[in-house]
Amino acid sequence: MTMNQYEIDHLATVREVAPESMVLLRTDGSFPLERPGTLALYGAGARRTIKGGTGSGDVNSRHVVSVEEGLESAGFVISSKAWLDAYDEIAEKNHREFVEDLKARAKAAGVPALMFGMGAVEPAPVVDLPLDAEADAAIYVLSRDSGEGNDRTPEAGDVKLTESEIRDILALEEKFSTFLLALNVGGPVDLSPVKDVRNILVLSQLGAATGDAFADVILGRAYPSGRLATTWAAWEDYCSEGDFGDPDDTHYREGVYVGYRYLDSVDVAPIFPFGFGLGYTTFELGGATVTVNGSAVTVEVEARNTGERPGKEVAQVYVSVPAGELDQPFQTLAGFAKTGELAPGASEKLAVAFDLAELASFDTARHATVLEAGDYLVRVGTSSRDTAPAAVIEVAETAVVRELHDVLGDPGFTDWKPAAPAAVEIPANLPRLAVEAAALRREDTAEPVDLSEALAFVQGLSDDELTYVVLGDYADEASKQSIIGQASQGLVGAAGQTTTRFDGLPSLILPDGPAGLRIVPQVGVDAEGKFPLGDALGGLFAELMDDASMEAFGVDPNAPERTPERVFEQYATAIPIGTAIAQTWDPAVAEALGDVVGAEMDHFGAHLWLAPAMNLHRSILCGRNFEYFSEDPLISGRMAAGITRGVQKHPGRGVTVKHFAFNNQETNRLNSNSRISQRAARDLYLRGFEIVVREAQPHAIMTSYNLINGVHTSESPELLETILRDEWGYEGLVMTDWVVYSMTRTDMKHPRASAVATVKAGNELFMPGCEEDRKTLLDGLAGVRDLPSITREELEKQAARVVRMARKLGEAAPAPEV
Ligand code: BGC
Repeated sequence: MTMNQYEIDHLATVREVAPESMVLLRTDGSFPLERPGTLALYGAGARRTIKGGTGSGDVNSRHVVSVEEGLESAGFVISSKAWLDAYDEIAEKNHREFVEDLKARAKAAGVPALMFGMGAVEPAPVVDLPLDAEADAAIYVLSRDSGEGNDRTPEAGDVKLTESEIRDILALEEKFSTFLLALNVGGPVDLSPVKDVRNILVLSQLGAATGDAFADVILGRAYPSGRLATTWAAWEDYCSEGDFGDPDDTHYREGVYVGYRYLDSVDVAPIFPFGFGLGYTTFELGGATVTVNGSAVTVEVEARNTGERPGKEVAQVYVSVPAGELDQPFQTLAGFAKTGELAPGASEKLAVAFDLAELASFDTARHATVLEAGDYLVRVGTSSRDTAPAAVIEVAETAVVRELHDVLGDPGFTDWKPAAPAAVEIPANLPRLAVEAAALRREDTAEPVDLSEALAFVQGLSDDELTYVVLGDYADEASKQSIIGQASQGLVGAAGQTTTRFDGLPSLILPDGPAGLRIVPQVGVDAEGKFPLGDALGGLFAELMDDASMEAFGVDPNAPERTPERVFEQYATAIPIGTAIAQTWDPAVAEALGDVVGAEMDHFGAHLWLAPAMNLHRSILCGRNFEYFSEDPLISGRMAAGITRGVQKHPGRGVTVKHFAFNNQETNRLNSNSRISQRAARDLYLRGFEIVVREAQPHAIMTSYNLINGVHTSESPELLETILRDEWGYEGLVMTDWVVYSMTRTDMKHPRASAVATVKAGNELFMPGCEEDRKTLLDGLAGVRDLPSITREELEKQAARVVRMARKLGEAAPAPEV
């Protein structure tokens, strides 16, 4: 195995920053270990370590270092090999049965197995193997996997632990004085039965270097400095006011009460709160000083390392917005800052800055965001449940911050709110500051993007030609899909590219993410061009390719095997999952990881990376949460902005922020209708997107599959033109999620999105595109069929947006190295 220099460098970066994602939940000081010795290593994640979940974000790294391998190469002697070998056999059998069962159930349901089983969670097997290894210390690595296409369940083996996991973890805790429970998971598991274990670490899923980074932390060569970006509660304690997982209509009845906003408002203490995390040392936050300038608030606080090892602390500022005409959650994260490395005894003064105007809530009656008159209590601390009041900011009269449009329809219900919300008590002796209503007023003026040059180009095209511009590139005119793995000749394994039909117009190449670049690792070249070698899709995708899936995806089982004249490699670096990146609470780390991806985009010649993914963790059951950041929109927006800066510092490279928006479950993801009030939509679900747009101008945004109050997000001019472009000043490209024609079902309550309706709505690139989609555009131009019609002028405008971005990125991007 010869690694390229870029792989070596990027792995080193991932290994170096990975400990910033690890969250130490409990410690008795027995870790880190002083030296590598004998180790009793158990649990599913020990050998079968999960680098990141399944689905379109699965990245083909050359090699993934498992926990076992990482520990061994650091010098540990694993004394529990017999257990690991026996577990392997059980897990293999479990997996075979799981795949067979999925295929059988898909057949019974008359659905291609790939569509049915994609992302299904394989429940952890119940095992009964002796824990008889002797060692200096023991580690149990619990793992969970999930992915695109299916949601998690609150059952044992997924959100809950299995009987054998609980039994083994508690037995090891009893037997060994030095024992660690490590969690190789993409999202919370209900730790209730094991919450008192003395040492618990959220290892998370950290990409290709997971095992090495873990060994570094176990030996104290690095230290965990992550903080939870989503609450870890007992399953029963999460908000259950709204519903989840309805295939047709999901009611977000809980309104803005999501995650800690809910738990703090009903005063239920979670097992491990939002923002929580320990380290190998201890910190003290000094008294905070709060100053106000206009509406800009600065909270200065000193963090001092009071322990005996180096570490980093995160200062978190929460604000209790006063309830008035609008109810308010108990508190909202307003800002945060992480120290650099602090040696024992050292301290650092942090300045956490935020704009009070950004805490405004949408008032449906006024069609505006407002800050109501009252006392805003500022708290500073190290988690949502561990804060000290620092100041009160008085707003004397209700301020209208932004006048907005009344859009996005009606969900058909009124949002839930707590009957007896936890009272916000304001201590009498706090410093009081004032912000004038006038300082809170915001008037945004979005400059329209100059499309004149691009318009001149598209005006010279025939109707026939014009339709190709707004669709992804597809080669096979006869088939109803563009197959991932073969959708791009420019970069094999990219999820798609823009049209290649026009001389002189660059085609933008679009590989998936978010845990790195998803491309095919081995490529063959013959007289007809490049093609993937071996299993292009990887993992469960390939295993589920039954006859019905092949037919649906246009894979010809009898196609003659192509013999390559030349073969080359395309290994990309798997970086930590989105949730792990959020756990760093450090946008600079997100930027460094974005930079790694940007460099690989340079290397392979990719233009728009289909990442970061940033839907909110509304429920811990969402199967794609691991790709997403947090239950909090501020963390999500800041992390996405960091990644965007990291990628977009490379000329001609851009991100595609996804999935815009309200895509918080996987059940019937193509046609499920998210029913949400405009307030919850704007205050929570759109907020992170707004932050990344205003802070970092991503070059592209991908709409989601789902609907919002009865309208597909991709077909909503209110979302795409009014909110995104007019209100936020977005200047980039908008594309759909991959509406693969043959993947869409027609037997659902809500119909599939159509190329003509999306393009008309301001979603100028319909992906991945096929001849069938082009026909709907031509019919739309002719005004026939039961679909919206589109004028030549409307189509020209949307095509010009694609052309503008194709030129902007295509001309700035240096030529690839492969
Ligand atoms: C996923 C997207 C992905 C796209 C292209 C879709 O099914 O939802 O996240 O970028 O496929 O692979």
